[in-house]
Amino acid sequence: MREIRPNVYSVGAIDWDARLFDRLIPLPDGTTYNSYLVKGSEKTALLDTVDSQMTDVLVDNLIRLGVEEIDYVISHHSEQDHSGSLPEILVLHPEAKVVTNAKCKTMLQDLLEIEEEKFILVEDGQALSLGDKTLKFIHTPWVHWPDTMVTYLEEEKILFSCDFLGAHLACSNLFVDDYEVVYEAAKRYYAEIMMPFRSQVNSHLGKLDGLEIEIAAPSHGPLHDKPAFIIDAYKDWACDTVKNEVVVAYVSMHGSTAMMVSHFVEALIERGVKVRQFELSGVDIGKLAMSLVDAATVVIGCPTVLTGAHPVAAYAVFLANALRPKTRFASIIGSYGWGGRMVEQLGGMLSNLKAEILEPVIAKGAPKDDDFAALDRLADEILKKHKEIGIAQ
Ligand code: FEO
Repeated sequence: MREIRPNVYSVGAIDWDARLFDRLIPLPDGTTYNSYLVKGSEKTALLDTVDSQMTDVLVDNLIRLGVEEIDYVISHHSEQDHSGSLPEILVLHPEAKVVTNAKCKTMLQDLLEIEEEKFILVEDGQALSLGDKTLKFIHTPWVHWPDTMVTYLEEEKILFSCDFLGAHLACSNLFVDDYEVVYEAAKRYYAEIMMPFRSQVNSHLGKLDGLEIEIAAPSHGPLHDKPAFIIDAYKDWACDTVKNEVVVAYVSMHGSTAMMVSHFVEALIERGVKVRQFELSGVDIGKLAMSLVDAATVVIGCPTVLTGAHPVAAYAVFLANALRPKTRFASIIGSYGWGGRMVEQLGGMLSNLKAEILEPVIAKGAPKDDDFAALDRLADEILKKHKEIGIAQ
């Protein structure tokens, strides 16, 4: 428990040991479930709760602060890492009302069976007075669920942004102290959680432009007392501009695809194109997702298995498609033994990407001179495309 400003406290939990979120997303550095208490001269509000596994931490923090009554629990988002302790808090504080938007209310009822009479609904832009403190609610749907909203504490100029602007990073410091570490964690978080909703991210960033923000207080990771750092990073990640980079993600069974990848990556490097290469059977999907934030081009390297795509490559392509990166160009390289539909399968799985598909290069068996020449032509074509959109010399 820490004081952020007079009568504004951080009361959430640090989860040092968490290693996987949603049974999908790697958490190399754990995470935090931030919850905040705002004590006004007349009313007290708790902003979000914590994951149900850490309810005791939240409850202990409230006891240590001497909190006897909670008038409002502000729920920015119904996902259980922020709402999991809500039922317990409502038992301990039967006087509390849950303040949220209509969509979040429905989802809290679906997920946690919160009773109808507990809710107070707020509209976009509506304010709630705590006496000498005022909470203003700003609806920000789809960052990253349809229910998400943020709260601006007007007197202290604090933006409580929930998942938006957050980072999965367990740390003992209240505010960012190592910008390099936080940048990496926040970009990973953006890539995995926010990137599919890039247009909404841009729209909500525009909405926040009119606010004077002294502190950005997300629900994961450290707070930002220099909020321009994270807001500018989000603007960079979410803008339409791509970089002169190619992500080459591949798997190989007996070395043919690996030989092609090796030749192709060297060809790109010789042409002045930055490459990020990932071997998919042991990949950290968070790092792969991060690489997709900026890259102009993605190339999948895949062998043919049981007449189709290697399942490891198919998993990565499925994930990349779901993350909807701003990739402009894509292609496939790989090999086959006697036939198959690997290219058609993978190509069909990239439907969310608004990317131009460049001529794939597929070798029969081990790659020969013709195949290496085709890989050189693909590298030429990528450089040409990058030049056409003004990101390469
Ligand atoms: Fe941190 Fe969408 O929950």
